[in-house]
Amino acid sequence: MEKQKKTILVVGSGGREHAIVDAISRSPQAGRIICAPGNAGIAAQAECVDIPVTDIDALLKLAREEGVDLTVVGPEAALAAGIADAFRAEGLRIFGPTKSAARIESSKEFAKQIMMKYGIPTGAYETFTEFEPAWEYVSRRPLPAVIKYDGLAAGKGVVVATTYEEAEAALRDMLLDATFGKGKVIVEEFLSGPEFSFMAVVSGEKVYPLAIAQDHKRAYDGDKGPNTGGMGAYSPVPFITDDVREEALEKVLKAAAKAMVAEGVPFTGVLYGGLILTAEGPKVIEFNARFGDPETEVVLPRLESDIVELFEAAVDGGECELRWSPKAYLGVVMAAEGYPGKYVKGVRIEGLDSISGKAYHMGTALGADGSLQSAGGRVLMVVGAGETLAEANAGVLADIGRIKADGLFHRTDIGKAAL
Ligand code: AMP
Ligand code: GLY
Repeated sequence: MEKQKKTILVVGSGGREHAIVDAISRSPQAGRIICAPGNAGIAAQAECVDIPVTDIDALLKLAREEGVDLTVVGPEAALAAGIADAFRAEGLRIFGPTKSAARIESSKEFAKQIMMKYGIPTGAYETFTEFEPAWEYVSRRPLPAVIKYDGLAAGKGVVVATTYEEAEAALRDMLLDATFGKGKVIVEEFLSGPEFSFMAVVSGEKVYPLAIAQDHKRAYDGDKGPNTGGMGAYSPVPFITDDVREEALEKVLKAAAKAMVAEGVPFTGVLYGGLILTAEGPKVIEFNARFGDPETEVVLPRLESDIVELFEAAVDGGECELRWSPKAYLGVVMAAEGYPGKYVKGVRIEGLDSISGKAYHMGTALGADGSLQSAGGRVLMVVGAGETLAEANAGVLADIGRIKADGLFHRTDIGKAAL
């Protein structure tokens, strides 16, 4: 018997949401796919509706009027605004954690307390609300100093200071000048080792691990330049052995899912572990309560089983098996010159129909003349597959060569450290 086609709403407007829409469109259960607000690339695969991700009343109205069967949430802003609570209160099925469960991302202190209480491996830390004691503490400790603002700071709330001047300036910024609003600061033990991203679809204590990926946060080749939202990613990650994966799955992801249930804030959605492989094993740098961006753009293309079945298993508490492509997937971000600082706007983009891989749109819009233009710092993520990472990288760089976009830049060494 053929399953009834479903109407699915995806909330968000970036490359992550494009990859989610793309994965949903491969599902035999997918009927209409709606995306709010979406972008120019997503519009080719979904009906885009111009509603901001935090306008929960308007999203609820849309879901009711369009008979949406399942809503999938991309960005943390929507979760922190309580979208999952509001939808559930109306009996609408939504894939994403409640506002209280999303605190595992929105409050670093909450995340740290959970990790300490349940023995989840992470760096030691102290919390401060006043500048003086914080500076006194940091100035007596060895460098580098890891200083984190306790709240959402659009990826800019973490400073790894290699000098005391830098550390003092960061504390001043966060505690005296309240750059991100009045808040707390966490000073954390510096951890060293390669980083990797391990996401899982979580439903209470049930954990479905996703394929591991690695992000590249620095703007330029050789991991030089400022921190960004992520300039490229790849999956699988060869230096993560099965043993390390198993250890991270048990001690981090499954332990965290269990802890959230025990704390009375069961988690439904994607739990993202930002991990570092230290000499003592994998430790948590951060948790996110959502799909990672740009990791999702290389992880979901590897998923061969039905993603709608996975989302529904999480929302309804069913069972589901995942199948993954063994191929290497690699993606390179094309960003606007100047990013992550002040960047050029409205760059014209041509040639996307001549590439052999896939271009996920991170920040694009149609200009008044109907041409494709950049509409953000990170613009496109070009993703390709290969038998090896090197092959995938060569294919992606060749694709980028086919794209005409004066004013965008990209890294050429994504995945190189793993080769
Ligand atoms: P986050 O925004 O929490 O992902 O942190 C940004 C980056 O800061 C991470 O990707 C790490 O490279 C670095 N970082 C954060 N916490 C630590 C830590 N405890 N030790 C070393 N590096 C860290
Ligand atoms: N790629 C890191 C993040 O999504 O937060």
